[in-house]
Amino acid sequence: MEKTNVSLDKVTMGSFILCPFLVVAKDSSKKSGVNIATISYVSVLNQDDPVIGLAIRKTRHTHGLIKQAGEFTLNLPAMDQLAIIDYCGTNLFSGKKVDKANELKLDLEKSQAISTPRIKDSPINLECRLKMVLTLSTKPRAHDFFIADVVACHRIKGFLIENHFGIVTTNYSYRMLGDTIGMAYQVHKKVLKE
Ligand SMILES: Cc1cc2nc3c(=O)[nH]c(=O)nc-3n(C[C@H](O)[C@H](O)[C@H](O)COP(=O)(O)O)c2cc1C
Repeated sequence: MEKTNVSLDKVTMGSFILCPFLVVAKDSSKKSGVNIATISYVSVLNQDDPVIGLAIRKTRHTHGLIKQAGEFTLNLPAMDQLAIIDYCGTNLFSGKKVDKANELKLDLEKSQAISTPRIKDSPINLECRLKMVLTLSTKPRAHDFFIADVVACHRIKGFLIENHFGIVTTNYSYRMLGDTIGMAYQVHKKVLKE
């Protein structure tokens, strides 16, 4: 199969499959008291003493808010929240101009360990305390990497991630997670038998 050397363009970077989360940050300039943004550059960095990482562009309103407050909540969207994900991820409605939580009449609830609220209808909420911010590039529109301790976690009773169809994004489209095609640490056994 012949391959050509291509630049790291939007198609290449868009080929990653990511999961969008709703990030709530405190914003005292808003009636709702918060700003919400969609962030899909999210990764688990440590499992015991859980740590997560989020890449947030310097130009986002959320960037300054989290730096200032040193905390935020990360909310897994429910399947019927697709339009909310898209709205909170559209620059036109940036928190610089719009009180998104108020416009969407989004239900917020008090967090347990931090003073930033969580999204009530999200099946999983992580309460996060900022540990450090890594500069990845000095370009003005670059992402910074926010590393945070997960200090509390809440999950809707009876919620099973296996039964949550899961919204993912790839190359600017929203998709649903597909079927299970094998179990990790098990499926390798097939290779050994063949
Ligand atoms: C599906 C989706 C995923 C996104 N992921 C990110 C991301 O990982 N990092 C980022 O900086 N912006 C991301 N954005 C863009 C921001 O959500 C968008 O610029 C938003 O308006 C920022 O809100 P704010 O200015 O109120 O903080 C994403 C947008 C969408 C629609």
